[in-house]
Amino acid sequence: MTSTDTVQLWSVSRVYGSGDQAVAALDGVTTGFAPGTFTAVMGPSGSGKSTLLHCAAGLDRPSDGKVVIDGTDLGTLTEDELTLLRRARVGFVFQSFNLVSALTAEQNVALPLRLAGRRPDATKVRAALAEVGLAERAGHRPSELSGGQQQRVAIARALVTKPAVIFADEPTGALDTTTSRAVLKLLRGLVDHQGQTVIMVTHDPVAAAYAHRVLFLADGRVVDELTGGPGPETIAARMASLEVTAC
Ligand SMILES: Nc1ncnc2c1ncn2[C@@H]1O[C@H](COP(=O)(O)OP(=O)(O)OP(=O)(O)O)[C@@H](O)[C@H]1O
Ligand SMILES: [Mg+2]
Repeated sequence: MTSTDTVQLWSVSRVYGSGDQAVAALDGVTTGFAPGTFTAVMGPSGSGKSTLLHCAAGLDRPSDGKVVIDGTDLGTLTEDELTLLRRARVGFVFQSFNLVSALTAEQNVALPLRLAGRRPDATKVRAALAEVGLAERAGHRPSELSGGQQQRVAIARALVTKPAVIFADEPTGALDTTTSRAVLKLLRGLVDHQGQTVIMVTHDPVAAAYAHRVLFLADGRVVDELTGGPGPETIAARMASLEVTAC
């Protein structure tokens, strides 16, 4: 890790519950995410992937350790300041899209700007929709869009504030193969063409192969890492050996 990394985690732990019920979802994770890189996070169910993403995105506070986004130590911020930083610097894409069903694609994309108290600039909103190839669908509601199109609206919504980093938790988990590929190409394109930093949780080695680097978690710890854009077979083999160890 270097001090120029967009996102830095220093000995981050997250314990849920207390006493006998305590679960160490993250256990002393130290890692960084460089600007303009695409990282996939993999690991068995319950290994702490979502917890890592939530802590790194400032959606959850670590029990111990430090998270730095774009030079700001999140631990020094009040809840209100953290919310503001998240709105300005972070985009989040969920497995279930999380669009507001009563709003059109355009209104959904404009939401983060409204929440940040900015008057949504129609040009920016349309540009974000155009980036995900949905300029023609601005007036459609989520129920009038396919799953892949809804996920692309969610990505446009994550992009509209020009965040330092985009976090995606199983963004293709609810999509078919063809649609998944379109969403993954889009995420990779953001990194290659716009220098975005993307951190994506996935169970799928083919999806992870779109990343430059794959982090493997087990029992709340980073147990392995592949760099240099590993292929799906290499990633699948590493996953399989981890799952054997976990058993
Ligand atoms: N709010 C919570 N309260 C108590 N325990 C929790 C909570 N959230 C997560 N955990 C526990 O923390 C551990 C890590 O959970 P996490 O959701 O990060 O796993 P994951 O790797 O994302 O799993 P999956 O692949 O199934 O989504 C699990 O043992 C889980 O049961
Ligand atoms: Mg999860």
